[in-house]
Amino acid sequence: MTRTPTPQDGLCWITGASSGIGEETALRLAAEGWTVVASARRAALLDELAGKAKGPGRIIAAPLDVTDLAATRALVTRLEAEHGPIARVILNAGTYQPDSARTFSAESFAATHAINVQGVINGVDAVLPKLIERKKGHIVIVSSVAGYRGLPRALAYGSSKAAMINFAESLKLDLDHHGIKVQLVNPGFIKTPLTDKNDFPMPFLMPVAEAVSVLVKEMNESHFEITFPKTFAFMLQRLRCLPYVLYFTLARQVMPK
Ligand SMILES: NC(=O)c1ccc[n+]([C@@H]2O[C@H](COP(=O)([O-])OP(=O)(O)OC[C@H]3O[C@@H](n4cnc5c(N)ncnc54)[C@H](OP(=O)(O)O)[C@@H]3O)[C@@H](O)[C@H]2O)c1
Repeated sequence: MTRTPTPQDGLCWITGASSGIGEETALRLAAEGWTVVASARRAALLDELAGKAKGPGRIIAAPLDVTDLAATRALVTRLEAEHGPIARVILNAGTYQPDSARTFSAESFAATHAINVQGVINGVDAVLPKLIERKKGHIVIVSSVAGYRGLPRALAYGSSKAAMINFAESLKLDLDHHGIKVQLVNPGFIKTPLTDKNDFPMPFLMPVAEAVSVLVKEMNESHFEITFPKTFAFMLQRLRCLPYVLYFTLARQVMPK
């Protein structure tokens, strides 16, 4: 049986905290009493974020490029030595560059996967032995509903998120025996700098504050998958069950070319 950690159990480390979902989540969790460690590459934004935190918790800025495994391991070791154990990790850092068969290149595919896949894996690598040793902790992996099925203009992004859905499922099955809670977050369209670059209609686009209210609440619940907005996620979950012939016919009609 896994237990949900509380602020008394230790730190909450969140990656991708310099903007969007990660930034808002860091602020909310600090207000709930967590000592939040906020990581991303843009150190100045993390310092600003730390200054904006409202108690009873606080935010510690910890710049990191999640693609750098050695730096990720070193950061986790330093954090635990200086501030105590990590009780919850939210692996949220991600990137999205719209692509298509015309613009496709192995380099841009690898750049997306380096952050969205290997960046998550590096974070898990750095914390996992410590959580297993302590037989407690909480790993939250932020993927996307874009990982449910192949979507147009999302060759690199969709495949990176599909990989993380499968990885989180597998990790949960392994870690249930160790008392470690694993949750998967699959957002739909949320208004952040990541979606601001989209030039197509985004159904059910949700303000980031609303999205993070769901995330923060459901991280304290026991179910595996956290989605928001619920209606859009529910619709896409149904598409997952369609046979290919029906899925491709529908996708051609309703999705951007
Ligand atoms: N917004 C949506 O509609 C939506 C939908 C589904 C899933 N998601 C997922 O939600 C997560 C957060 O996205 P968001 O919408 O909040 O986007 P965002 O505002 O663009 O935030 C992305 C965050 O990831 C960080 N990041 C990117 N590359 C990094 C690296 N190499 N090392 C460390 N940090 C890095 C960025 O910080 P720096 O640039 O400072 O490093 C930034 O803090 C992503 O995983 C995204 O795929 C978002």
